[in-house]
Amino acid sequence: MEVVIVADAEAGGELIAEAMAQLLRRKPGALLGVATGSTPLPVYRALTAKVEAGAVDTSRARVAQLDEYVGLPADHPESYRSVLRRQVLEPLGIGMDAFMGPDGTAGDVQAACEAYDRELAAAGGVDLQLLGIGTDGHIGFNEPCSSLASRTRIKTLTEQTLRDNARFFDGDIAQVPHHVITQGIGTILEARHLVLLATGEGKADAVAATVEGPVAAVCPASALQLHPHATVVVDEAAASKLK
Ligand code: F6R
Repeated sequence: MEVVIVADAEAGGELIAEAMAQLLRRKPGALLGVATGSTPLPVYRALTAKVEAGAVDTSRARVAQLDEYVGLPADHPESYRSVLRRQVLEPLGIGMDAFMGPDGTAGDVQAACEAYDRELAAAGGVDLQLLGIGTDGHIGFNEPCSSLASRTRIKTLTEQTLRDNARFFDGDIAQVPHHVITQGIGTILEARHLVLLATGEGKADAVAATVEGPVAAVCPASALQLHPHATVVVDEAAASKLK
């Protein structure tokens, strides 16, 4: 695992956007795995700037979703599909036909999860998966004690994550769906390159457990230690508890 300490979130965003741009120059049809939440926004802004400057061509790029709420209509403004359309696809000029994600409204959610794993594999696998990290060490919505071999499946959010995500639902925890579909840890580990970005002091404990703790299900992100090509990009604050 490679750990890169940057000055701040913007520098982290620029570094990762450049890695994505280099990937797209090498492989124009690359499949980028993207996350939602606050942390990746500087990455998407920096990559958008490169597209607008003509420094990278996204016309053949493909995008895969990491996780999705169960039961929110796809066009709900806070469904991750809608969020990614606003924050990633539209700014980068990538059409929905180049987007894949699990169906959070499926009648048979388990079948939708299995179908998504098959779709990812049929697409040739994710080339670069961008990850954030929860304050409890979750990646995607793999909460602590998720199996490190897990596949895409339905999960129940913890009280902590419901509270963390209420900010996207007018601060009202009652509006946050309790269930999500998430790529499993085993699914995430199949991406060719994992890039985790963590910024701010609130992530410092989770980053220390990820990088220096044992590989253990209590810290799902520690599974990155098992991956042959994992990069952890942290700002000074998020790095503050590394030895
Ligand atoms: C969302 C996701 C989550 C977030 C994590 C951190 O797609 O994968 O694991 O990355 O909850 O969220 P932020 O970045 O908002 O602190």
